Amino acid sequence: LSSIRVDIDGVEPGTQLTVQWLGKPVFIRRRTQAEIDEANEVDVSTLPDPIARNANIDGTAPADDANRTVAPEGSDSEEWLVMMGVCTHLGCVPLGDGAGDFNGWFCPCHGSHYDTSGRIRRGPAPENLPVPVAAFDGETTIVLG
Ligand code: FES
Repeated sequence: LSSIRVDIDGVEPGTQLTVQWLGKPVFIRRRTQAEIDEANEVDVSTLPDPIARNANIDGTAPADDANRTVAPEGSDSEEWLVMMGVCTHLGCVPLGDGAGDFNGWFCPCHGSHYDTSGRIRRGPAPENLPVPVAAFDGETTIVLG
């Protein structure tokens, strides 16, 4: 697996970067506290896909917001969300920055709405946007792969 390093210094809360990795877009979002709070208000058992879909943790872990995020070592911040920018329906690239009915991402191809944690909430997509292998190296670099 080829890895890349992404400098996230200067990414402000409420904004995101899109980088290309293995030929696909990866969304790296620094979420606001309001986005984090909104994600945590959801009862995970009511989600269309209640599984975290995070390659860095157990494959059966539930889709709690904390299980979807990546944090610097020693931090329990839920600020950083790293996800493949590929709709789990048929692979279009969802629109971000608060798009859709759940203030996260919206796939215009067939109308899938993802929430502020990248979890599918409405529409034909069967699964949450997947979290790839990703880890912090220090405070300002995220390594993908
Ligand atoms: Fe995203 Fe169909 S590809 S809704």
